[in-house]
Amino acid sequence: DKNGYDHYMLKEIHEQPQAVAQTIKGRLDRDIGKINLENYGISKINLKEIERIQIVACGTSYYAGCLARYFIEQFTRIPVEVDLASESRYRTPTVTAKTLSVALSQSGETIDTLQAIKFAKENGAKTLAIVNMPGSTIAHNCHDESLIYAGPEVGVASTKALSAQISSLIILGLALAQEQKKLSSEKIAEYIDELVKIPSLLEKTLTLSSYIEHLSKKFYNALSILFIGRGPQWYVAMEGALKLKELSYIHAEGYAAGELKHGPIALIDENIWSVCIAPKDSYYEKTISNIEEIRARGGKILAVGTEGDENLKSISDEFIGVPECSELIQPFLTTVPLHLLSYWVAVKKGTDVDQPRNLAKSVTVE
Ligand code: M6R
Repeated sequence: DKNGYDHYMLKEIHEQPQAVAQTIKGRLDRDIGKINLENYGISKINLKEIERIQIVACGTSYYAGCLARYFIEQFTRIPVEVDLASESRYRTPTVTAKTLSVALSQSGETIDTLQAIKFAKENGAKTLAIVNMPGSTIAHNCHDESLIYAGPEVGVASTKALSAQISSLIILGLALAQEQKKLSSEKIAEYIDELVKIPSLLEKTLTLSSYIEHLSKKFYNALSILFIGRGPQWYVAMEGALKLKELSYIHAEGYAAGELKHGPIALIDENIWSVCIAPKDSYYEKTISNIEEIRARGGKILAVGTEGDENLKSISDEFIGVPECSELIQPFLTTVPLHLLSYWVAVKKGTDVDQPRNLAKSVTVE
């Protein structure tokens, strides 16, 4: 049931506020500044013993892992490694009894992720499945299972599962920090206050849809689009590029903004659009100089930034503003216009949005 929407993807993009609300529900106790481990799904693993974290995943789930790594390391100072599941097992990664290996998968059935987590378990790691579908094969093969409760995701493109996965990994980071006494309960309470704001901020951001539909006219004929960002926004850029390729078959590349001048800047000319993600965060000034570099070479710029940022607006050809919020919340909001952009570009091109060519919802062959 598409609930009145033309496609499952659009419905699922709009379901993100509820998805995140479900992921965090019952797992955070603001009053005492505590994460409820049992409700989160940790019962067998002792988080106090963990000295390293490995996250294995594919596609959009991999980007969720890469993005959350910034926050988990910030909270815990525990080193986090994020591995593409299809590569992980074949390089025989070092895991020990003090490694927490996390299999991150919407479906819980992705074969590469299953193989990677099996390898980690066989080699002594503690394994946690963070999945959306209950009763999955990946969860069966892990010590503990934490459901993200995003609700069924039918569109091949993963949208609401991504926000739910990032929320879940942030909770995991806070849980580790709590168990290892790296953050005080006051500090954890502050982060909880941040997390509970996500659904309403997502709701506000979703009102951008009709504006982005209008903007998509400028993009659907593009041959190639570059996406750039720094810090967590680097992975928002990667995700934006993946979705555009997947849905509209337009070539796109996601890049760390600081890497532009090490090669890809050669692509820039007056025919190329760059989608630059630059909310007001600690990387802002640096990203702005990268945008100036593109501009100086005649490239066209679609900026995704903070509402009311006149400075960014003045150096861009097009501007999309998301609500002002903390750095922890920004990636949730900046993802929304990129998902909507790929959706509306695909609709304009007339491609099959919910079932793009050559793809399956869950990839069960290696
Ligand atoms: O079910 P999973 O989270 O394990 O799936 C991983 C990828 O196949 C998936 O995220 C894929 O990249 C999406 N189609 C992207 O929109």
